[in-house]
Amino acid sequence: MTDHIRLFNPGPVEVRRKVLDAQTGWMISHRGKAFETLFARIQLGLRAVFETEHRVFVSTSSGTGLWEAAARNCVGDDPARGVLALVCGDFSERWADVFARNGKYVEVLSVPRGRANPVDALAAALRTRATPFDAVAWVDNETSTGVHNPTPALAEAIRALAPDTLTLVDAVSSAGGDRVATDAWGLDVVLTSSQKCFGLPPGLAFAAVSDRALARAAQIPNRGYYFDFIELEAFLRKNSTPSTPALSLLNALDRQLADMQAEGLPARYARHAEMARMTQDWALENGFGLFAEPGARSNTVTVVSNARGIDLAAINAGLARVGMSVAEGYGPLKGSTFRIAHMGDTQPADLHALLTAFSALLPHG
Ligand SMILES: Cc1ncc(COP(=O)(O)O)c(C=O)c1O
Repeated sequence: MTDHIRLFNPGPVEVRRKVLDAQTGWMISHRGKAFETLFARIQLGLRAVFETEHRVFVSTSSGTGLWEAAARNCVGDDPARGVLALVCGDFSERWADVFARNGKYVEVLSVPRGRANPVDALAAALRTRATPFDAVAWVDNETSTGVHNPTPALAEAIRALAPDTLTLVDAVSSAGGDRVATDAWGLDVVLTSSQKCFGLPPGLAFAAVSDRALARAAQIPNRGYYFDFIELEAFLRKNSTPSTPALSLLNALDRQLADMQAEGLPARYARHAEMARMTQDWALENGFGLFAEPGARSNTVTVVSNARGIDLAAINAGLARVGMSVAEGYGPLKGSTFRIAHMGDTQPADLHALLTAFSALLPHG
């Protein structure tokens, strides 16, 4: 029998024992040389994952903190500019709300659940705009619907039609599991959380930030305190952080970045894509549907349409007996969908075991 429940949930995910153990090291001073060496090594590892030559801030918060950071540092208070929020599910909707609650002017462009944000609608919104938006924000991988947005094409349209508008991307459930090429795709802020495709415990968040975004932040007077990009940059240059960092989690991150490099990022992304195919095939073979539209299905989480009307709580009770669990549908999609995450360090063999156990619990005939 297993000693714990292996989570096939879209965060927190199963964390390997080696990574959990890395958190148990002795404390060091975060104002000493040893910390600077650790933080510099982490910075190099993060830049490789985000494919940026610039900087990746490390925040002691979950991803939501960096939603707020992007709102405060990248969007000014001029209502004639504001931010265009592309919405395709609950998380993108919440980020739009974060901008609003920080007093920013928000225009929302949304699509029905299950669809990706289309480039042509974005282009039309940019063309008809008298004053350019300060930023366009979207979610690369909508964890509530299993939709993977066309991020390179969205960014390209913005560069062509509104070159001064910043591109803010939530890659919370994709970075580390699917490619996000910050510099090559011209993205200004790419943020993620530790507890998803990085296969770490929750508690850290990362944001790749461009020079353009930093220059914008410098023009904005009320950036707040904890998530001030200018302050984070000043300390990062010294391989340090403005406030006390979560040392135990940083040790786990250091271990994990080394293992991600050893696996190789292309191999890591191919593993996620293979697991997405396995899950999609399983869903269709077992009489379920796929909630996300074809061509926009996530490689890291599959949202399964519950066409058979199964009771997920009963399935999870059965799965718990063999040490596994999957996730309910999110928000309004609870009951009509359920979610199987295949992210982080989950291997195809682990997923195969889950799908086999799930099938055995399904009513037959
Ligand atoms: C796409 C997306 N964005 C943002 C969040 C919020 O992240 P956190 O819970 O790390 O604050 C989540 C959480 O599941 C998410 O899936």
